[in-house]
Amino acid sequence: MSLIKDLKWRYATKKYNAEKKVSEAEISKLKEAIQLAASSWGLQLYKILDVRNPETREQLKPHSWGQSQITDASHLLVFCSHNSVSDQDTDDYIALKAKIQGVKVEDLKGYGDFMKMKINEKSPNEVKSWTDKQTYIALGNALIACAEMKIDATPMEGFDAAKYDEILGLKEKGLFASVVLAVGYRHAEDDAAEQPKVRKSIETLFETYE
Ligand SMILES: Cc1cc2nc3c(=O)[nH]c(=O)nc-3n(C[C@H](O)[C@H](O)[C@H](O)COP(=O)(O)O)c2cc1C
Repeated sequence: MSLIKDLKWRYATKKYNAEKKVSEAEISKLKEAIQLAASSWGLQLYKILDVRNPETREQLKPHSWGQSQITDASHLLVFCSHNSVSDQDTDDYIALKAKIQGVKVEDLKGYGDFMKMKINEKSPNEVKSWTDKQTYIALGNALIACAEMKIDATPMEGFDAAKYDEILGLKEKGLFASVVLAVGYRHAEDDAAEQPKVRKSIETLFETYE
């Protein structure tokens, strides 16, 4: 299985070669892999900011524990989740599903109403935790896609989400910053590349119920 080989190859890159850029074609592929992530009900309650402005990245760095990946990686993706979910979000999804799958919106009404009922049962905090979880599935897709394309990547939670919200104007967009993904190419002197993977054994991680 080549995927296992790819997953062994990847590591959370600590030091990037700031001179080496990921091509636009590969970034497009990466975006497609993220687009194809599974999500609860298919709602895709996230937006991924592709932060290209070098000054903005400099601004974000001190609020990211000073981590060099923020400015040195080729690209910086900020995975943001919806702060809340409205009936309109469900209606938009139903309209899209109807259009793509060639069915009538009216025929999906019962399904949409059930979705709304289940979503509206959640408290505001539960909604945020739920949207956040969906976003991490998208992050997982991105990590696997990068590994397959032999692009280095760093998933990052080491940042001040409130500051990101402020700098990137997320609140006005109904979003909050969940997790960051730096992508690019490792620096030849990144010692982390040589370190063996630290993972619990399969026996520890899994339990079989018979
Ligand atoms: C959600 C998440 C947040 C992380 N945050 C950071 C981070 O802020 N900085 C960093 O260098 N690595 C970060 N990591 C990388 C992990 O430390 C790393 O994935 C883990 O130690 C396993 O090592 P490996 O990915 O190199 O195999 C994060 C990983 C995940 C999944």
